[in-house]
Amino acid sequence: MTTLAVAGATGHLGRLVLASLIERGAAPSDIVAIGRDVSKIADFAEQGVTVRAADYSDAASLDPALDGVDRLLLISGSEVGRRVAQHTNVVQAAKRAGVQFIAYTSAPHADTTSLALAPEHKATEQIIRDSGIPFALLRNNWYTESYLQVAEQAKYTGLIIASLGDGRIASASRRDYAEGAAVVLLSEGHEGATYEFSGDVAWDYDDLARVVSTIVEREVAYKRVSSKDHRKILTKAGLDMGTAGFVVTLDTNTREGALADATDTLSTLIGRPTTPLADGLASAYAEAMAARQQE
Ligand SMILES: NC(=O)c1ccc[n+]([C@@H]2O[C@H](COP(=O)([O-])OP(=O)(O)OC[C@H]3O[C@@H](n4cnc5c(N)ncnc54)[C@H](OP(=O)(O)O)[C@@H]3O)[C@@H](O)[C@H]2O)c1
Repeated sequence: MTTLAVAGATGHLGRLVLASLIERGAAPSDIVAIGRDVSKIADFAEQGVTVRAADYSDAASLDPALDGVDRLLLISGSEVGRRVAQHTNVVQAAKRAGVQFIAYTSAPHADTTSLALAPEHKATEQIIRDSGIPFALLRNNWYTESYLQVAEQAKYTGLIIASLGDGRIASASRRDYAEGAAVVLLSEGHEGATYEFSGDVAWDYDDLARVVSTIVEREVAYKRVSSKDHRKILTKAGLDMGTAGFVVTLDTNTREGALADATDTLSTLIGRPTTPLADGLASAYAEAMAARQQE
């Protein structure tokens, strides 16, 4: 029996990985789901998944969480700026626990990219390499669901304003990435692999505007602005300087091609095409509307 663990199981991606593992044949009793707020995965506990509470910031909480684990998926934490120390705690605890394999959700071309979010991922990749634990790097491109907010705003304004020019984004749905992670955990032969996981197709913001128009049922246009004007627009709309600067930097990275690399690595591994932008965003939008109606 191989015990598979998912750290970050309480998040959006983590829940989908748990579901994919079970769909692809893992026995719930062979799965350990680790997160801070484990009430979010009570439904998986009911199915027989072992649920353990731990905090990446609290090294002592990680030893019991990883006890008996053979293969671990470390889903990167969400607290930007604190993640290198947090991930170090997880990798060190994995080493102590005798974990045999770690898969880590990284960022596209983490070791060479100019992407502003990449340094913590690059550092984590190095920490994993240095640990001596066999590993696979799952360098996920952007989630299609990340564009839900853009669609919701465009519903009211009819506009998508950005400074990424004709930059292209090879996004895929979280479900696609989750299935990729599940395959890597469930099958052998991934040791030492660096997977550039992405959607099959890279799209630009004119494509996004067309897709959003259909979803929100109104004409939506993409307005290209300069980085300087974008920063002004964002701060005028209430964002603090730091956040506005970060958004503009990510747009610059995107304009320069940091997210443009569409590979068939993910679709090959999961055995089906990745979810097209139009389908992924329409599903996310429908789910968000349904959730809002229930509130
Ligand atoms: N590729 C992309 O487009 C993209 C976009 C956004 C984020 N990401 C990255 O991908 C990760 C997963 O995405 P997601 O959509 O599933 O994010 P999410 O729903 O925000 O989930 C984040 C997960 O990280 C866990 N976590 C955060 N800090 C932790 C800590 N100190 N100790 C233990 N667990 C901690 C959360 O646990 P609790 O829920 O229990 O607090 C949760 O399980 C994110 O954390 C981020 O690193 C990628």
